[in-house]
Amino acid sequence: MKNFQVIEHPLIKHKLTLLRDENTGTKDFRQLVNELARLLAYEVSRDLPLEDVQVKTPLTTTVQKQLSGKKVVIVPILRAGLGMVDGILDLIPAARVGHVGMYRDEKTMQPVEYFVKMPNNLEDRHIYLVDPMLATGGSAIAAVDALVKRGAKKENIKFICLVSAPEGVRAFTEAHPDIQVYTAALDEKLNDNAYILPGLGDAGDRLYGTL
Ligand code: PRP
Ligand code: URA
Repeated sequence: MKNFQVIEHPLIKHKLTLLRDENTGTKDFRQLVNELARLLAYEVSRDLPLEDVQVKTPLTTTVQKQLSGKKVVIVPILRAGLGMVDGILDLIPAARVGHVGMYRDEKTMQPVEYFVKMPNNLEDRHIYLVDPMLATGGSAIAAVDALVKRGAKKENIKFICLVSAPEGVRAFTEAHPDIQVYTAALDEKLNDNAYILPGLGDAGDRLYGTL
């Protein structure tokens, strides 16, 4: 599928298996989501632009590289996306953080937006939209719409998730064909309640102990 990438790495696979395990408790779940987000962000940030900069070492002066241009903003989809923020900030500590509050209505499975707060000049930023789960795709599609409505450029948005379902990937890439999706795993399908199989259950509840 165009613009869709499963990031393959032994550490990612191992940590994701631990995350799926129903015996993994809240503390470890939170830690693993952070570690996975950091590993994914390392791959996703490969194409950040660089520029030359002069630096004086203790021995001489040399021209080396530094990040250039647009600044990164991490945008978690609340609640579960919040669990991925710190892992990415470990790698890109100067990033800004915006928030999109979105929950799935339990009956209709449709996303309901309840909070949006973004840094200014969204049009000039690289945006990493993050959520552990891409199930029907409704939340991620609506989150992108909320960003675009506030000035974000689609070509600057990347969506990063941990577990995705084919149904959600299809819906998202149809709605936003120009946005790159990165995931740690593409699972089998959704169940009748639109939960991902095999999945990991309810990411927000497992992160925050609200089961
Ligand atoms: C979960 C998850 C995604 C959404 C995915 O959030 O974190 O945001 O469901 O499902 P979708 O692709 O079908 O839209 P949830 O609505 O459970 O809210 P929460 O993070 O506050 O628990
Ligand atoms: N949201 C979750 O947290 N888990 C799923 O499997 C689907 C949606």
